[in-house]
Amino acid sequence: MNKFKIKGRIEKLKKEINHHRYLYHVLDKQEISDAALDSLKHELSLFEQKYPEFLTSDSPSQRVGGKPLEKFKKVRHKFPMLSLNDVFNQKELEDWKNRIQKLAFTRQSFVEQNLGGQGQKLKYFAELKIDGFAVSLIYKDGVFFCGSTRGDGKIGEDVTQNLKTIESIPLKLFIHSELFKIFPTNALDKKIQKNLEKIIKKGTFEIRGEVYMAKRVFKKINQERLKKGEPVYANPRNIAAGSIRQLDSKITNSRDLEFLSYDLITDIGQKNHSEEHKILSVLGFKADQGRACESVKDIMNFFESIQKKREKLPYQIDGIVINVNNNSLHKKLGAAGKAPRGSIALKFPAEEATTQVENICVQVGRTGALTPVACLKPVNIEGITITRATLHNEDEIKKLDVRIGDTVIVQRAGDVIPDIVKVLPGLRTGKEKKFQMPENCPICGAKTKRISGEVAIYCSNENCFAKEKEELKHFVSRKAFNIDGLGEKIIEHLMNEGLISSMADIFYLKKDDLEPLERFAEKSAENLIQSIEKSKKILLARFIYALGIRHVGEETANILVESQKLEVKSIGDLISFFQNISLEELENIQDIGPIVGKSIYSFFHNEKKIKLLKDLSKAGVEIKFPRNLPKFNFRIAGKTFILTGSMETLSREQAKEKIRNLGGSVSNSVSKNSDYLVAGENPGSKFEKARKLGIKILNEDEFLKMIK
Ligand code: IVH
Repeated sequence: MNKFKIKGRIEKLKKEINHHRYLYHVLDKQEISDAALDSLKHELSLFEQKYPEFLTSDSPSQRVGGKPLEKFKKVRHKFPMLSLNDVFNQKELEDWKNRIQKLAFTRQSFVEQNLGGQGQKLKYFAELKIDGFAVSLIYKDGVFFCGSTRGDGKIGEDVTQNLKTIESIPLKLFIHSELFKIFPTNALDKKIQKNLEKIIKKGTFEIRGEVYMAKRVFKKINQERLKKGEPVYANPRNIAAGSIRQLDSKITNSRDLEFLSYDLITDIGQKNHSEEHKILSVLGFKADQGRACESVKDIMNFFESIQKKREKLPYQIDGIVINVNNNSLHKKLGAAGKAPRGSIALKFPAEEATTQVENICVQVGRTGALTPVACLKPVNIEGITITRATLHNEDEIKKLDVRIGDTVIVQRAGDVIPDIVKVLPGLRTGKEKKFQMPENCPICGAKTKRISGEVAIYCSNENCFAKEKEELKHFVSRKAFNIDGLGEKIIEHLMNEGLISSMADIFYLKKDDLEPLERFAEKSAENLIQSIEKSKKILLARFIYALGIRHVGEETANILVESQKLEVKSIGDLISFFQNISLEELENIQDIGPIVGKSIYSFFHNEKKIKLLKDLSKAGVEIKFPRNLPKFNFRIAGKTFILTGSMETLSREQAKEKIRNLGGSVSNSVSKNSDYLVAGENPGSKFEKARKLGIKILNEDEFLKMIK
């Protein structure tokens, strides 16, 4: 990008960020997630760091919050309530360290005062970054006097009454000297203790921290809302923020909020941030123990250990905060815009981020369907670089109105292909290009066709190379034949060499066929032949799934096997079973329905497919049965379960397996035929649907009891 374009991009980013900030902070509305907004801000500050000539005082990076709402009395902060700059990885953390180290070394006044001069190393204090709502608490003569929100950083809202409902906020301060016996390291420096005793007797004392809702309480509140048929809250932070900004303290009180302190504002002679945490704990505030660190490596170790514990913590965190552990130096480093230079947030990777669509290309899938895919400017989500996102079909492109060159929000959930959730039209330059689906298959050039009632466009060539390759990829994939070492590139290679063209060909491959090929050494050829051999004995449900029958995923394959008590012993038996079942019978199987039923029916009445099945049998593929046949549980057998949200004690896969082993089945979609919906934490839309249909809803405990 040339400088002219960069300037344009910066202007657009500022406008967009301001728009969302206004919605969020002033009107209490949210159009895009915090992660997406953070991502835009991150892009802006990277540009501003690189091109400081474009940094203006009206940039959103230079101020905090929007205007306070009119509802509350206003409070002017004696010291501005700042925010933090974010980094997302070790490299960015190192850059921060280098920046402040350079400042500390080159500023003459710092060197003179020995606040980090040459040869000295910076020291840090790292602590948890609570995902809550920042407040400032002022104590007058040791009594809680005024509590306020951040507001625009200079003026906040007086929420004293609401904060008084939070039990973890002491209403009167005193020194818990009993702690010195339990934690001798908590003992304070004599001078500090004296100053503290003095100031809580007479004087003003200000501390800051985060109001939050524990995960346990959040879960309970949502479960109660579900029972009453009310919509659930998206995350604990939103309720914490909403509750503090309630005009009626009774509502706040009912929300069971907590407070964790992290900052002592009043100077009582404390020398470093770790000492502040000590003082806060001694005064009876909850304060994180944190960790004193001497290097970026120490900080990263702490970060990784916290990342591992994250799920088990009683509250939500979104990263760690690192402070230069020397208060005079921290003060001298000052603030750059909205954030103190001496502090930084090292955040967990976001699940959403913004990036730009560089191109839209078309992939041909196993069924011949053409899928438009967005090629993205690489962006990091949850530690993974994302370069592509599916656009599903033409309708989705129209719905999103996504164009080449657009800035978009991408989302990554689990292992699935990332999705584009939103386009940010405010960032358009006018040069974006609309996209049209091609009239011809981009792989084989054949005309594309439409199937009535479907949104997808298909390649009309039965033997399209792309289609065959995708079929083979599916056939050998983890949930199907699970052939290790047979990835996309190798399949392509084997197809190009004419060694395989159909599924059955795989089982005729010999070591001697592979070895001369470029990608194979003797050992890898031998390994592949072994994994092919091992895969020949396959569970029935996996076999059905591997065939790639349209609309028959893993779940449907399981349903077919279980609901029909399919105990076929060979591929021949399987063919006769499906050739003897009527279309009507198929469609009437619970959770199958007309579309899937027709697809299964036509597969088993298609000559080519039957030949394929026979070829597989000839090639030595055998169907095997699990040794542990299901131990039926009368409450579960024959029942259909829907799973939504995450459970604490079981993964989704484990829960599915338990249900199936006890004779039940799991479906992905809620229908009037579903028997139970198991709702874990943060349930999705299935929950609402199940509730409307009157399906019995189980929480995790109830489900565990049932499967016991
Ligand atoms: S120190 C300069 N320490 O994160 C402002 N902040 O994204 C003082 N936060 O505004 C920040 N845990 O509301 C600090 N241990 C912690 C924190 C923390 C959560 C919040 C705070 C801050 C926001 C910045």
